[in-house]
Amino acid sequence: MSKAARLALLIAPGVDASEASRLVTRLNLPLLDAATDPATCLDYDALLVASADGLSLQRTGRAAPGPVSVDFGSARMRHRRGAGHNELLGRAVGVGKKPVLRVLDATAGLGRDSFVLADLGCQVLMSERVPLVSALLRSGLERARSSGDPWLQEVSGRMSLWEGEARDLPANRLSDIDVVYLDPMFPELGKSAAVKKEMALFQSLLEGSGRDADQLLLWALDLGVARVVVKRPPRAGNLAGRQPSHAITGKSVRYDVYVKRKLA
Ligand SMILES: C[S@@+](CC[C@H](N)C(=O)[O-])C[C@H]1O[C@@H](n2cnc3c(N)ncnc32)[C@H](O)[C@@H]1O
Repeated sequence: MSKAARLALLIAPGVDASEASRLVTRLNLPLLDAATDPATCLDYDALLVASADGLSLQRTGRAAPGPVSVDFGSARMRHRRGAGHNELLGRAVGVGKKPVLRVLDATAGLGRDSFVLADLGCQVLMSERVPLVSALLRSGLERARSSGDPWLQEVSGRMSLWEGEARDLPANRLSDIDVVYLDPMFPELGKSAAVKKEMALFQSLLEGSGRDADQLLLWALDLGVARVVVKRPPRAGNLAGRQPSHAITGKSVRYDVYVKRKLA
């Protein structure tokens, strides 16, 4: 898909009218006839499809992969939990060092790291500034909250969303934050074909979104929180040239931890 992806909105019958008009206003995308078939709709690269089940992003064309949505109950999220992949992130933010840890995930994206943190018991405030991505995230959050699955409901109950630039968060939303977590850029293409396709779609939508990551780190370091954690590829340089207090490195990821004071 090209740098400036051509996107449109498709609202299926059965979608709540107020939700439909909120999407139209917020996303400012061309609205297509509800009967449009994404397989043959070649005027656009991808369609944001609103249905009674929530939002998903569907590439157009006959060979397109399946839709991408935020599904916190997916097999991949459950596997990640069972396989212990979340342990490093938990250590980096300081899970267990305080009864209720309040984390701002300033670069929430599709909310996977936020969900992991909430699953580890953190109260997580997410900020996501790209309207299409935050719309998908809100939809996933609402789906989890109304899923009837006690685990999904409990975990998503610890998550809240600010649909905008992190640096525009009002002071009263930031006053009780212990840790700021930053994951400014999607990693290089992942291992499995499914991950590659999903990442390629989002990388093209978010082209250039990590360019102000240095400034974001400097802003976070100035907030007065106990620590700031930055997710980096293992061999990448430090953001803003700032040396972290320590780093926790796994096979495919590194967490740079900037300790400002004790978590207590
Ligand atoms: C790599 S993705 C995050 C992926 C996320 N950690 C996950 O687990 O799904 C980075 C996201 O941060 C968002 N972002 C980057 N800088 C931001 C900022 N200053 N304020 C709000 N959102 C930001 C981008 O729009 C993008 O969606």
